[in-house]
Amino acid sequence: MSTQPSIFVEQAEILEHKAFEGDQWIMRVQAPKCAAATLPGQFAHITCHPLRLMRRPISIMRTSPKQGWVDFLYKVVGEGTELLSAQVVGESVSLIAPIGKPFTLSENTKHHLLIGGGVGMPPMVAIADALQQQGRAKQTFALLGSEVPFPFNPQPSTFMINGIPDGVIATMPLMEDWRIACRLASLQAFAGCFQGYITELASLWLEQLSDEDRKQTMIYSCGPTPMLEAVAKVSAQYHVAAQLSLEEHMACAVGGCAGCTQPITEEGVTAMKRVCVDGPVFSAQAVYPELFTA
Ligand SMILES: Cc1cc2nc3c(=O)[nH]c(=O)nc-3n(C[C@H](O)[C@H](O)[C@H](O)COP(=O)(O)OP(=O)(O)OC[C@H]3O[C@@H](n4cnc5c(N)ncnc54)[C@H](O)[C@@H]3O)c2cc1C
Ligand code: FES
Repeated sequence: MSTQPSIFVEQAEILEHKAFEGDQWIMRVQAPKCAAATLPGQFAHITCHPLRLMRRPISIMRTSPKQGWVDFLYKVVGEGTELLSAQVVGESVSLIAPIGKPFTLSENTKHHLLIGGGVGMPPMVAIADALQQQGRAKQTFALLGSEVPFPFNPQPSTFMINGIPDGVIATMPLMEDWRIACRLASLQAFAGCFQGYITELASLWLEQLSDEDRKQTMIYSCGPTPMLEAVAKVSAQYHVAAQLSLEEHMACAVGGCAGCTQPITEEGVTAMKRVCVDGPVFSAQAVYPELFTA
C-alpha cells in the first residue's frame, strides 16, 4: 500500500492578495481539497501566470479545512514570483498539492522548538497551528527571523521565556492569539527583536533546559541553507533532534524528473533523494551527517 497521500490539482480562486514590505506577499486562495488534506511542511506547485506553464513550489502556511481556503507567504525573487504577484483577487491559479513528506509531530515530544527564517516562516506557522489545535500550545516555542520587515505587525509578547534577553519582546500576533510563546530575530535593529542570528536565540533557550528536557525536545526548521546548517550545528551541540525542510530548484515537483536530488544519509548509507517527494523534510542528521559523528 502506498504511503504517499493524495495529491490534487485544483483551480484556485484568489480570495486575498496582500503586499508587504520587502517584496513579500500573502495570498489566500480557495482550494478545498488542498485545505482538507494538507499536513505541516507540505507545499503546493503553483502556476504563476495563466499563460505560463511553469510552476513554482510554495509552502502551505495555513489552511481552513472548514472554509476551504489556503494561505501562502512568498517573496518575489525572479520571473515566476513576479508574475504571481501580478495576479489579482478573482483570478485563479492552478495548484498541485499537497506535496511532500510533512514534519513528524510526535506525541512523546515535550518541547517543540520552531525556527523559521525568511520565507521559511510559513511551515513554522503551519506546525504552530497544528500544535495549538492539538492543545499543545504551551509546549511550543517559535523563533522567527527576517532581514526585511516582518510580513505582520510585531507586537509585545505577554509570555515570559527563560533564557531570552530582556528587551527581546516582539512576537507575531497570530502566535499570541494561539497562546504560543514566540520571539523575533534579525540582524537589522527592529524594535523588540533580538539583534543577531535566530540560532543564537535558540542556543540561549536550549542552554537553560535540563539534559532530560533537551532529550524530549524536537527542533523543526525551514529557511535559507546557511541557517539550516547553523540549526543542524545547534542540534548536534545540544543533542536535540531536529527536522529540516530543504529548498531545492524543482521542475516537476512530483518525483518524476530527479531534478531536485540531494545526498541524504540514513543508517550510514548515503543516497540521492528527491527533495520534492522524499522530503522536503529530513532529519538534520541525514542532511549534515558529518556534524553528528562525535
Ligand atoms: C519545498 C519548497 C517550498 C518553498 N516555499 C516557499 C515559500 O513558502 N515562500 C517563498 O517565497 N518561496 C518558497 N520557496 C522558494 C520558491 O520556490 C522560489 O523562490 C521560486 O521558485 C523562485 O521562482 P522565480 O521564478 O520567481 O525565481 P527564479 O528566477 O527561478 O529564481 C530567482 C532566484 O532564486 C533562486 N531560487 C529559485 N528557486 C529556488 C529554490 N527552490 N531554492 C533556492 N533558491 C532558489 C534562484 O537561484 C535565483 O537566484 C520554496 C521552495 C521549495 C523547494
Ligand atoms: S522536482 Fe522532479 S523529482 Fe523532484
